[in-house]
Amino acid sequence: MIDRPLTLKVNPGGSLHGKISVPGDKSISHRAIMLGALADGITEVDGFLEGEDSITTLNAFRAMGVSIDGPTGGRVIIHGAGLHGLRAPSGPLDLGNSGTSMRLLAGLMSAQAFNVAMTGDDSLSRRPMKRVTGPLISMGARIETSDQGTPPLHITGGRMLTGIDYHMPVASAQVKSALLLAGLYAKGKTCITEPAPTRDHTERMLTGFGYRVERQANRVCVAGGGRLIAGHIDVPADISSAAFFMVGAAIAIGSDITLTGVGINPTRTGVINILRQMGADIGVIQQRESGGEPVADVRVRYSKLHGIRIPEDQVPLAIDEFPVLFIAAACADGETVVTGAGELRVKESDRIQMMAEGLLLLGIDARPTVDGIIIRGGTLKGGQVRSGGDHRIAMAFAIAALCADGPIEIHDCRNINTSFPGFATIAKNAGLDINTQTQS
Ligand code: S3P
Repeated sequence: MIDRPLTLKVNPGGSLHGKISVPGDKSISHRAIMLGALADGITEVDGFLEGEDSITTLNAFRAMGVSIDGPTGGRVIIHGAGLHGLRAPSGPLDLGNSGTSMRLLAGLMSAQAFNVAMTGDDSLSRRPMKRVTGPLISMGARIETSDQGTPPLHITGGRMLTGIDYHMPVASAQVKSALLLAGLYAKGKTCITEPAPTRDHTERMLTGFGYRVERQANRVCVAGGGRLIAGHIDVPADISSAAFFMVGAAIAIGSDITLTGVGINPTRTGVINILRQMGADIGVIQQRESGGEPVADVRVRYSKLHGIRIPEDQVPLAIDEFPVLFIAAACADGETVVTGAGELRVKESDRIQMMAEGLLLLGIDARPTVDGIIIRGGTLKGGQVRSGGDHRIAMAFAIAALCADGPIEIHDCRNINTSFPGFATIAKNAGLDINTQTQS
C-alpha cells in the first residue's frame, strides 16, 4: 500500500457535544500482546487499540511464532507460547513509529535464545536507545545500536542475564518495563527505582497474570524464573486520546461532552489535574475497576481557562498530553510556564520545537526553553502548520481550530493512525468542522 500524505483542514469555531468513546489504550494494548504471548494458555483481549503502533507489536509476536487471532472489533485472542516459547523471526522486526515496541522488546529480546535485529521508521531511528540498552547490558545483554545510540538494534541471543538494582536517571515507563521484562528471565532479583512515578501498566498486568511483583514507594522488583498465566484483559479507552476532546471541550464555548470508559490510572491523570488547575470544569463519574485498571466516564464543560505554572511532578503523569495542553495554554488568559519537560524533545518529534513553531505561525507568543515552554494565551489566527509526522502534534492543532478565528490546515497527518484511528470521524461527530484530504 502506498502511504499518501494526509492533510487535515479544520474550520474555526464550533463546540463539542455528546457521548464520545475513544479507542483503547495504546500502552495497555502493547502490554496485553506481550504478556499474552509469554503466558501459558489463551488470553482474550477486548478493547484492543487497532492502531498502527499496537499492531506493530502484534505482528512482531506473530513473526516470532505466536498464534494470534484478530484484531476484529477490538478483540484479540492470543495463544500464549510461554516464557520460553518464542522463535527466531525470519528477518529484522520492523517496529515502524513505535518507541514502546522497540524499547520494551529490547528488554524481552535480550533474554531470548536467538539473535534479533529491530528497525524503525525515520522518527524512531532518531530516538535515544542507550537509556534502555545501557542497563540491559549491565544485566549481561549484548546489544548494538548505531554510533549515536539510536536504532537499528542488534541483539545477540543466548545470554544469561543477572538481576540489577537500577536507579533510573529519567522517569521512563518504557525503560522500567523493558527491565522488568528482562527481569522475568534473569538470575535473582531485578529492581528499578524511578525518580518520579511513571505509568505502571506493566506492573499491574504482570500481577494480573499471576506474576509476583514487589512494589514499595518508587521501587519495583521482580525475580526471574516464574510463569505467567493467561487471562482476560479489558483495555480501557485511552486517556491520551480522550485528552484531545477534554481540551477541546474546555476551550470551545458552550461545549459539554462525556468521554466514556476512560482509563484513569493515577499515573496517567496529569492532564485532568493540570486542566483543573487551569480552571477547567471536569467531572470524573461512574468510577469502576476493569481488569486491574481504574476506569471512569469523564465529563467536560466549557469554562474560561487561565495560565498556570505547571507543577513538575505532573509532567511524567501527562507526558503524552503536552501538545494539546499547549493548545489549552494558547487559549487561556495569561501565561503558562512548563519546566522539567525536556523529555518532550525526544518523543516522536521534538514536541517543544514543533508546537512552538506552529503556535508562532498561528500568532501565539510561544517561547521554547531547554526543558519546556512559556506560552502567553491570545487569539489564534488561522494558518498552515506542520505536524512533523507526529500524531499528537497533528491532533493538537486540529483541536486548536475550536478557539481560532480562521481555518487551520495541518500537513503530514498520516501518523494519527499510529494511536488514534478514526480521529477525524469521531471529532466530526462531536462537533469539529474537520475535513481530510489525501494527496495523490
Ligand atoms: C509509554 C511511556 C511513555 C510515553 C509513551 C508510552 C509506555 O514514554 O511517552 O507514549 O507505554 O510505556 P517514556 O517511558 O519514554 O516516557
